[in-house]
Amino acid sequence: MADLSVKYLGLSLSNPIVAASCGLTRQADQAKQCEDAGAGAVVLKSLFEEEIQAYIDSESVGVEHTEAVDYIRELETEAGVHAYADNLRKAKEALQIPVIASINAVSRDWWVHHVPTIVDAGADALELNISLLPHDHRLKEEKVLDFYLDTVGLVKKNTKIPIAVKIWHHFTSIPALVDQLHWAGADGVVLFNRFYQLDIDVETFRLKGGSPFSNPSDLSCSLRWISIIYGQTEIDLAASGGVHAGEDVVKTLLAGAQVAQVCSALYRNGVEHLQTMRRDLETWMERHSFSRVDQFRGKLSRKRSDLPESFERLQYIKTLVGQE
Ligand SMILES: Cc1cc2nc3c(=O)[nH]c(=O)nc-3n(C[C@H](O)[C@H](O)[C@H](O)COP(=O)(O)O)c2cc1C
Repeated sequence: MADLSVKYLGLSLSNPIVAASCGLTRQADQAKQCEDAGAGAVVLKSLFEEEIQAYIDSESVGVEHTEAVDYIRELETEAGVHAYADNLRKAKEALQIPVIASINAVSRDWWVHHVPTIVDAGADALELNISLLPHDHRLKEEKVLDFYLDTVGLVKKNTKIPIAVKIWHHFTSIPALVDQLHWAGADGVVLFNRFYQLDIDVETFRLKGGSPFSNPSDLSCSLRWISIIYGQTEIDLAASGGVHAGEDVVKTLLAGAQVAQVCSALYRNGVEHLQTMRRDLETWMERHSFSRVDQFRGKLSRKRSDLPESFERLQYIKTLVGQE
């Protein structure tokens, strides 16, 4: 039988399929269902600073005294963070596989004051779901990058557990960013997050949300960057976005990923789908006579390719002239 075990962020996983942070990993019992279905690790639903903030703001309506508002703010924030930590503690008690906490925050205070509470609750690692939409033309690119790097540096200073950074794909140079994240203290990077999909209703003249779920074709973006980055920097790469089947997990590993995170496919097929994916990965390995994952990880990366220029291809030139 093939050995599917892998290392990710220094943690030992029985297999490389990770339940991604989403509504299906919110509660400890949901995380346990992912473990029972065969996940190698689980990333809990993110704790969102803005969510707690919005709740506090709605509760504070009518409270005029600034000091009182500050006091309530502090208490509510503490309560939100402690509730997250309690749930994490329960997950740690119930699960054998690594449990990764996830935080989405912007303010410096959060990283300094609240990360230790979550770490103390027993998280095996921390995923920083950093999201910053640079909508203001005066915000220069260096400032955006500095925000990412400062955040990682700050968290690293305040915790001893491994950290992964989950990013999206709109950067001028993803390999350079990943390298800098590594030097700032990140142990892993998750490529890529899927944010709220903006759409427009042309009849009502309103904004509307597109599908929150990915399609298998979305995997291409992750495959491209993982295959290019693999071997360039010593950071663990986790694929996220469009991993829907066992075959997709194989592709991410061939590109050079340490693990593949799954979300939309679990919403579509139920968490039991993890079992099918795991079985299909194992069957593929046996069919190709691989007994361990590291025998084929990165096999189709740019670094190990005889034709590295094929990874730089951007245009469908032959298609454009009708030959392909
Ligand atoms: C309903 C839903 C909720 C999500 N919530 C979170 C979250 O709290 N934190 C996070 O980092 N990513 C969140 N994500 C993003 C997923 O973790 C994942 O990165 C993304 O969906 C791409 O993977 P997929 O193609 O397997 O869906 C969410 C995605 C969905 C669909």
